[in-house]
Amino acid sequence: MPDVAFINGAFVPLAEAKVSIEDRGFQFGDGVYEVIRTYKGRPFALEAHLARLNRSASALDLRQPYSSAEWTDLVLKGITRAAYPEAKIYIQVTRGVAPREHAYLPEATPTVVMTIREFHPVDRSIQATGVEAITLEDIRWGRCDIKSVNLLANVLARQQVKQARVFEAILVREGLITEGAVSNVMVVQGGTVVTPPEGPRILSGVTRAVVLNLALSEGLPIQERFVSQSDLYAADEVFLTGTTVEVLPVVRIDRKVIGSGRPGPIAQRLAGCFTNRVV
Ligand code: PDD
Repeated sequence: MPDVAFINGAFVPLAEAKVSIEDRGFQFGDGVYEVIRTYKGRPFALEAHLARLNRSASALDLRQPYSSAEWTDLVLKGITRAAYPEAKIYIQVTRGVAPREHAYLPEATPTVVMTIREFHPVDRSIQATGVEAITLEDIRWGRCDIKSVNLLANVLARQQVKQARVFEAILVREGLITEGAVSNVMVVQGGTVVTPPEGPRILSGVTRAVVLNLALSEGLPIQERFVSQSDLYAADEVFLTGTTVEVLPVVRIDRKVIGSGRPGPIAQRLAGCFTNRVV
């Protein structure tokens, strides 16, 4: 089955999709993106992802050429073309092609790219055992709420994750945890689900919002506030949320055992609720 690409208005085979070397996404990382996955051929929380794409684009004064309705149509067409059982949809909008100069022309025509590739979900056995994480200094810029293609700090963090043979890096800024390199972080303290608040320090995760709502509907208290690194180690439970990880318990951080060292009851309950919600 071929991977599908969409570029500036046309669907083409992925290998044929090309962008100019003068594209500002390539030159400056001047662009925004979204990652969406399908369940049984249907995109999950597409509206929320498209709303965030619009928010990210507006925050960068970037003209996003398609309305959410047009994007929905394009995403559904792409899913049909790719025909994968489970697909990962990547959307990227950059400020387009221009001679290299840091300042931009507001009227520049954006480059719009989408790919649809097969998605391989996290192994169910990993869900059952939980994963290990390391903490790293959060060296990202001051607007982590914008889903920008400037991912250098995340790239470096994920490389350290790979070298440490763990699953994720939990980022720490001034002693407080912010989020994972590709996920949001939640902790359970005395039955309360605690996660850092929306704002410039974190990406407002689509999965984060779904999971917080699930927690509320399960009658679990939630608090949106920062947690210190020492409170992270001392938490009853820690779990990650994200499009690619869903709800994933973390059982060791920096080689220290979290809680019982097994996925905790609240993470498991929310993971179960999440599975019911998506299929
Ligand atoms: N990343 N925080 C960061 C830094 C992320 O990169 C992501 C997702 C999340 C979770 O957001 P959501 O629930 O909306 O997927 C949080 C995507 C999957 C990526 O960059 O590949």
